[in-house]
Amino acid sequence: MKPKKWFVTAILIVTFGLIAVGCGGAVTPTTAPTAVPEPTKPSAPTLTPEPTKPSAPVATPAPQVASNSAPVIFEQVEDRLKLWQAQIPPEYAGKTNPYPLGDASAVSAGESIFNDKHCAACHGGELEGDGEFSQVLDPKPINLTDPVLMSLPFVTDTYLFWRIGEGGSQPPFFSAMPIWKMKLSEPERWQLVTFIRSRTVKEVAENEEEENQAAIAVIEKVGCFACHRLGSRGGKIGPEWDGIGTRAATRIPGMTAEEYIRQSILDPGAFAPPGFEDKAQLMPSSLGEKLTAEELDLIVEFLLRQK
Ligand code: HEC
Ligand code: HEC
Repeated sequence: MKPKKWFVTAILIVTFGLIAVGCGGAVTPTTAPTAVPEPTKPSAPTLTPEPTKPSAPVATPAPQVASNSAPVIFEQVEDRLKLWQAQIPPEYAGKTNPYPLGDASAVSAGESIFNDKHCAACHGGELEGDGEFSQVLDPKPINLTDPVLMSLPFVTDTYLFWRIGEGGSQPPFFSAMPIWKMKLSEPERWQLVTFIRSRTVKEVAENEEEENQAAIAVIEKVGCFACHRLGSRGGKIGPEWDGIGTRAATRIPGMTAEEYIRQSILDPGAFAPPGFEDKAQLMPSSLGEKLTAEELDLIVEFLLRQK
């Protein structure tokens, strides 16, 4: 089982090295010898210790894992936290992404490179870490679209840029991730980072859209729109909600926007916003009891997003 896995991985890495070289256009005698050993060398140390070292238990769950489902991601996080905190080498540490988040031409350039270089073979077409080769990789690629993983404080653009440049060749990673710095220019590698980020942002936006809809459903159920206006819907008995996420932070000195909104719902009349000084008794005080804790959170988060 283990030797077979090792063998398949080695074959895979060498094959991929050849594909990558082949796709790079003319194969010159100087590039071929360097390109092939690159990925092979770093992978060996990870795979060899498995049977001997006490690290074996960590590697054991891998074969049972058929797909990159959510719980696997979180197992991975525990394993990876140490890796991720690796010090970014000084030659990378000072570099910053020249492309702004969501820069459309950088995103599409990055997407073309991602396709040309067959990153999907390991990372999956949707960047979720489930490419056709991912089964035999250890460690496997993570889900690069996962909003939680991708917003961890050490998963910075600089970190991603470093990792694309040096791949799994450096400690503590020692993985099958190829080295791209010889095949891709710095701007190309930043375009890849910007492309990867664009996928995460999309997922965040989709989650947000779902949460907005869930929040609106609760707001409709409880009847807040009878008195509050958002955009073109709702009444005018209470303060309007457009911009409430921003205004809430300025209402009571020392209170965060979140605290203010939460308390406004749970204890209406506690505050009298400008223009509503004489209406503090109008908002029903029973609303808090009608809402579950989750529903209240949904509404508070939703109102905070109305900037
Ligand atoms: C042969 C398989 C393979 C190919 C091809 C490959 N990767 Fe990877 N990549 C991996 C593996 C395995 C990891 C996880 C181990 C690690 O972090 O070193 C990884 C990690 C990464 C990471 C770091 C994410 C983390 O877990 O911290 C980035 C970013 C990345 N790859 C981008 C790319 C891009 C962009 C390409 C194409 C230009 C590419 N990879 C091609 C296997 C591959
Ligand atoms: C019957 C009318 C009425 C209903 C229904 C109502 N409110 Fe209000 N709301 C008010 C009035 C009037 C005020 C201003 C006076 C006050 O703060 O009590 C207010 C204030 C607020 C504020 C503070 C706004 C600001 O600009 O400072 C928030 C937040 C709020 N309501 C949320 C809600 C939510 C969420 C619901 C539904 C769960 C709701 N309200 C239902 C009338 C209402």
